[in-house]
Parts: sequence; C-alpha cells; structure tokens
Amino acid sequence: MSFSFHDRCLGFLDAVPPDLRRTLPEGFQDQSLDFTSNDTLALSQHPALRMGALEAIDRYGAGSTGSRLLSGNHPLHTAVEARVAALKKTESALVFGGGFHTNASLLATVMALPLWRKPPMLMMDKWIHACWLQGRQDTPMVRYRHQDFDHLDRLIQQHRPDYTPVLVTESIFSMDGDITDLGALAGLKHRYPDMMIIVDEAHATGAWGPEGAGLVKPEHTVDLITGTFSKAMGCYGGYVACTAALKKVLVQKCAGFIYTTALPPMVLGAVKAALDLLPTLQSQRDHLYALAQYTRETLGRHGWNTGLSQSHIIPLMMGNSGACLALHHHLTQHRIGVSAIRPPTVPPKTARIRLSLRVDHQQGDIDQLVATMP
Ligand SMILES: Cc1ncc(COP(=O)(O)O)c(C=O)c1O
Repeated sequence: MSFSFHDRCLGFLDAVPPDLRRTLPEGFQDQSLDFTSNDTLALSQHPALRMGALEAIDRYGAGSTGSRLLSGNHPLHTAVEARVAALKKTESALVFGGGFHTNASLLATVMALPLWRKPPMLMMDKWIHACWLQGRQDTPMVRYRHQDFDHLDRLIQQHRPDYTPVLVTESIFSMDGDITDLGALAGLKHRYPDMMIIVDEAHATGAWGPEGAGLVKPEHTVDLITGTFSKAMGCYGGYVACTAALKKVLVQKCAGFIYTTALPPMVLGAVKAALDLLPTLQSQRDHLYALAQYTRETLGRHGWNTGLSQSHIIPLMMGNSGACLALHHHLTQHRIGVSAIRPPTVPPKTARIRLSLRVDHQQGDIDQLVATMP
C-alpha cells in the first residue's frame, strides 16, 4: 500500500516526543496573570495606538493594496521611517513586514551584494534568533559561544585573511534576557575595522535605552540595526536602521521589500503613535527594571534559577522538557500564563519557563506567581 504525503505528515508528527510537541493555545486564555506576551510597554491596548490605527483606516482604508514600489506606498511609511531613523540616530530607516521577515530578507540581500572586497563570513552568536539562520542561505558561517567574545576574536583572526567578518547578535537575547556588551564589540570593531556588525534590537527597542531608543549607541559603531514593532511597540512590522545609501540599495535589491505587500496603513498609524509615545514612558521603563530585579531576587530566594537574565525577560531554567511542561501545566491550571520553551528552540538541558514582564505587572503579581509555584 502506498502512503500519501498527508499520511507521511501524520507519521512524522506522531514521531515527535510528547514533551517536545508544539500545540496552539485555544484563542485568548482566561488567565488571571499573563507572562507570555511581548507587549512590554502594554502599548497594544493604548488609546493613542487605537486612535492612530483608526485614523489611518479612515483615511486610507484597511489594506495597503500592493508592494510599496507599485501601489502600496503611503505617507505613513515615510513618517514611520523618519521616526525610526531619529530614534536610532541613523541617517535612514526602511520598514518591512514582520521582524522575522526583516532580518531574514535583509541578511540574504546584504550577503549577496557584489560589494564585498573579500567574501563575507557570518559570525553568529550560538543563541541567535532563528530568523537570522533563515536569512543566511549559503553564506559561509561560524558560530561563537554565547557572548564569548574571546572565542569570537579567535574566529575573526582565523578567518579574516580570506573573509570579511560579519557579526550578528541581539542586544537583549530573546530567550535568556541577557544583555550584550556592545562596548566590547565596539572594541573588536576598532581592532578589525573591516568587520561588519549587525545588532537585532527586537527586545530592547522601546523598553531600554534613553527614550526607549534601544541599547545601541552611535559610539558602538554598529553598521546595521534591526528591530520589530511587534514587541514593546505593541503592533507589528520590522525595520532596518542604516545609512541612506544602504536604504537605496535595499529598495533596489531586497526581495523581501520589493516582492511583498506593504504594511497596512492601520498598522503604520499605530506604530507611529507608539513611536511618538516612547520618550514619555521613562517612569514605566524604570518600573519595569525595578520589577525585573524584584522578580529575579524573589525567585532566587525561593530556589529558582533565572539563568543569565539581566532584563525584563526572565527564564526559569528547568533542566529538561518534562519538568518544564509539568510546571507550565501547573501554572496554567492556576490561570497563570507562562511560555514553555523546549528543544529545538533551546538545547535540551536548558528547557525553561520564559517569563516576559510588562510595565503593567506589579510586585503583587510576582508574589502571586511565586506563591502558586509547586
Ligand atoms: C530577537 C528577535 N528577532 C526577531 C524576531 C521576530 O520579530 P517578529 O515577531 O516581529 O517577527 C523576534 C521575535 O521572536 C526576536 O525575538
């Protein structure tokens, strides 16, 4: 008997061990507490963002109707790009669909440009987000141990005679919440000026840095900054902050910009409102940092291991997927939403519960979480 592709899919799924299986939650959960969302500044529900979206719908309609190069370009794209460039202190910025889409298509394009004196060699942190691996395509790559810049330095020295090193990292790591020493990277760039540095500020923009600008500063000599509007900015979409020249090249060459429908005006209307609000939210950010500190200390006192966390992203290191799922189940039963992060997203021994703090969480919420732990 011959099995159809569909049957083989079912067989493939059956072979995934239960503790590694991914299942979609059923819509919005009835939770008393939620630590799963990336809505760090709680902007997704903010009246100014709702109003920004409504005004944009009113003026331009629901969809963008085409690629930006054809029918989809709106004044709101220009307005958002001007704000991103000002926030990031770069000459220019380019808006894309989601953050994953931005990073994957940007990297694929930049690596393939016929502008390299020596071919590029990607040097990626071992724990880099999956979108960057997707964008790598066939570019040669080495991985350095997470945040180990001595290892990185050795790899640069080894490959620099034949390649241009292209370093890719995150300023705040999405699953561990640790913060990259961008000053140390600037030191490496000083020693190896031909190196390109790309920093993904997905979890830093809005939540960290002066006026929520993120952690990259001009003195870090980062060549390309990317990020998303889907986390602290409470919306959707991604961006690259870069030179005016590179933006022009991306408009010519980047398939992920050219051959896709532009972000809808209503999303851009909300994003613009979020960008306008960022400078006014310092007291909320200060609350977030204090709460993150309180959370780590409280969990630590109760014997939980919060790994490398230095930010509002706090893992509870569980050691294996079974223990991780058991705690997830226990907390969910008590209507506390947390994320169970397991292989292949993280290595097996580092399966963890991920807590993502928001500015509308309070110390009492952390106390409730700790009191509910088994
Ligand atoms: C570091 C990092 N980069 C990029 C992305 C992708 O962003 P988006 O959710 O907007 O596609 C994420 C989201 O998980 C992320 O954590």
